[in-house]
Amino acid sequence: MIRAESLTHYYGPYPAIQDVSFDVKKGEILGFLGPNGAGKTTTMRILTGYLPPTRGKVTLDGFDVVEQSLEARRRVGYLPETVPLYTDMSVTSYLKYMGTLRGMSAAAIKSRLGDVIDVVRLGDYRKTQIGKLSKGFRQRVGIAQAILHEPQVLVLDEPTIGIDPIQVVETRKLIQELGRNQTVVLSSHILPEVSMICERVLIIHEGRIVAEDTPKNLAAGLQGVERLEVEVGGPAAEVLPALKKIKGVNDVTHTNNNGRHIYVIQAQSGQDLRDEISQAVISSGWSLRGLQLVGMSLEEIFLRLTTHEEL
Ligand SMILES: Nc1ncnc2c1ncn2[C@@H]1O[C@H](COP(=O)(O)OP(=O)(O)OP(=O)(O)O)[C@@H](O)[C@H]1O
Ligand SMILES: [Mg+2]
Repeated sequence: MIRAESLTHYYGPYPAIQDVSFDVKKGEILGFLGPNGAGKTTTMRILTGYLPPTRGKVTLDGFDVVEQSLEARRRVGYLPETVPLYTDMSVTSYLKYMGTLRGMSAAAIKSRLGDVIDVVRLGDYRKTQIGKLSKGFRQRVGIAQAILHEPQVLVLDEPTIGIDPIQVVETRKLIQELGRNQTVVLSSHILPEVSMICERVLIIHEGRIVAEDTPKNLAAGLQGVERLEVEVGGPAAEVLPALKKIKGVNDVTHTNNNGRHIYVIQAQSGQDLRDEISQAVISSGWSLRGLQLVGMSLEEIFLRLTTHEEL
């Protein structure tokens, strides 16, 4: 549904994004994950046809967003980072106005308005001035204008930023519902959010895609067997050096969790030291109360991928 090929964009002498390519299948929910300044907004503005790329091209359902911009734009709904809402308009009149701007007929707007307001759950606020709505509800108005013309593709730039936790949960649910019928691309710098909502994640850093996978595979691919958590019954002052002495162990950290001594062991890449560790513990006469491989959280993966450490 979306094909981005070698997108590069320069605002001045420096590239904001470089050689960004990806495809999004129909009905997929794709997440763009990256820290501030990574190039998420730039990429999304290019996808929606608001910013022509310096190099590269985007097609939506086969239509080039630059050369066939009308056809392409008809197929896309966009929630920008800051929604240009007219604060003195009521929710309904703003949505009608946006529909007109998009070239919808009065009849089409009329028949669609009720549905859209239901979808974003703004029923009690139809007549409310946008300026009097809370941030989360304004964000819903932003989503409403994005879905008004029934686009096949939805591009949502940080849809949950700045709203309270309860509304965040609501908004995530809403996006997932929308994702059942539409192709959705959303950006976020919140890792758990992306892994919760999206089927696939692109990690973007300094204008380049540094990783691409399902949230699950990203974690599994980097998990390996290198990190283990062991609980040992025995004197920490002896257990710690004994664990550190095991061949293949790089580092051990110890925590005392209400009398439970937990050791996190970092092994050399690709090494599974479970047998060696249990052996060392038992042969010293201590008790082995737990031993498990621990994966990385998306936060850790992200740090790894973006701090240029060797994987
Ligand atoms: N209008 C502009 N003029 C000049 N430079 C810009 C402009 N917009 C963005 N940039 C630069 O391009 C780079 C990418 O910015 P972009 O807004 O795409 O990042 P982002 O991933 O959306 O960040 P954030 O998480 O802060 O929204 C940054 O270095 C930014 O300073
Ligand atoms: Mg941004």
